[in-house]
Amino acid sequence: MNRRDFIMNGCAACLSITVLSPLLTSCKTTRYISGTMGNDGLTISKDEFKQIKKGNAAYRSFLIVRNDALQYPIYVRRFSDTEYTALWMRCSHQGAELQASGEYLQCPAHGSEFNNKGAVTNGPADKNLRTFPVTVNDNELFIDLRKA
Ligand code: FES
Repeated sequence: MNRRDFIMNGCAACLSITVLSPLLTSCKTTRYISGTMGNDGLTISKDEFKQIKKGNAAYRSFLIVRNDALQYPIYVRRFSDTEYTALWMRCSHQGAELQASGEYLQCPAHGSEFNNKGAVTNGPADKNLRTFPVTVNDNELFIDLRKA
């Protein structure tokens, strides 16, 4: 392969990665919901975590609540039917909105990372994420925002 072919093939590979990677990312099924805003917090149905995978009932590990009343979204992680965490998707470094990538939240501004319980796993952030208490009531989750 000569230099010209190498450059042309390299450009084609870069272009295909640039064009295809957003499509591949969008194949992941992150679920966004708005929940129901009350005076003290948000209520969401546990059914929002249900999904059908290969014909079988399954549960999403997390979903994201976006609501016009919230300045930042909330990442809600399901650990079991009775254990959930709710994380404020505001980077503790300088306040950029985080991106959820499965079990991690990443900051597009300077690269900080947080785990699914809000603990810093990679700086420059040095504080954990703000979390909200989650109460499980029958088939609903109540996310207490009073300290938001
Ligand atoms: S604002 Fe998130 S790492 Fe700087």
